[in-house]
Amino acid sequence: MRLEKKVAVVTGGANGIGEAYTKGLASEGASVVIADIDAQRGKKIVGEIEKSGGKALFVQTDVSKKEDTEKMVSATIQGFGSIDILVNNAGILYTAPFEETTEEMWDRLFAVNVKGVFFCSKAAALEMKKRKKGKIINISSIAAIGAQASLCAYSSSKGAVLTMTRVFALELADYNVQVNAILPGTTNTGMAEAAMADPEWTRQITEGIPMKRLGETNDLLGAVLYFSSSDSNYCTGQTLIVDGGYSMI
Ligand code: NAI
Repeated sequence: MRLEKKVAVVTGGANGIGEAYTKGLASEGASVVIADIDAQRGKKIVGEIEKSGGKALFVQTDVSKKEDTEKMVSATIQGFGSIDILVNNAGILYTAPFEETTEEMWDRLFAVNVKGVFFCSKAAALEMKKRKKGKIINISSIAAIGAQASLCAYSSSKGAVLTMTRVFALELADYNVQVNAILPGTTNTGMAEAAMADPEWTRQITEGIPMKRLGETNDLLGAVLYFSSSDSNYCTGQTLIVDGGYSMI
């Protein structure tokens, strides 16, 4: 097991891709904290991990609230003694042409997708710097690097995540804390569900993917395990695209 004695926090770890990260990190030996607003699913997943012999804790956290993120890091230290890995995965999506995107939509999206990453990283980095080691993994999106209609606010928020990744990486390099980003392509989760209900949309997207299928949540796991483990100790400020080849053409 690659992550024995490590403690990992996954924000938004109660559903979708985050659930795959949570379970995958636990199966590699990490003690996992699920930091999510969804208490019902979070507690259910803790139960499943414990049943299969792993260690997990649910900490109700709204990543857009600074106080919540600080309490979440304290609860992690109290529960498991340290924080070695932070996966900034919590995110939300609104789709609308930019002229129909309201200020409220823009603000909420940035509060969760951008401020959430900033607050959680800030609180975790304080602890990681003390111990002179750590891994921060930010979940961006291929929407950050290619234009897609009706995703102006979302794509902009994910672009900000890429920029934060590089700046955090630079500022934390001296402290042996590596910061990297993963850019998933369209992945079969609750977030993509509304769009996938339209078979024509799904057909068009799938046709544009060289591997001719949408991503499944476990397709993202290898990237998170690489950035969480000592295999990536000399890799920082980088991005890994996991999209079946969609963005290469
Ligand atoms: P999802 O909607 O299935 O799950 C998101 C999780 O985040 C849920 O557990 C939800 O309760 C939690 N969450 C939402 N707001 C929160 C908040 N304020 N504080 C804490 N937790 C909160 O989403 P999915 O698809 O699993 O996405 C995970 C990440 O991957 C997101 O950052 C998303 O932007 C990104 N992504 C997803 C893609 C996709 O096609 N599904 C493609 C590219 C990136």
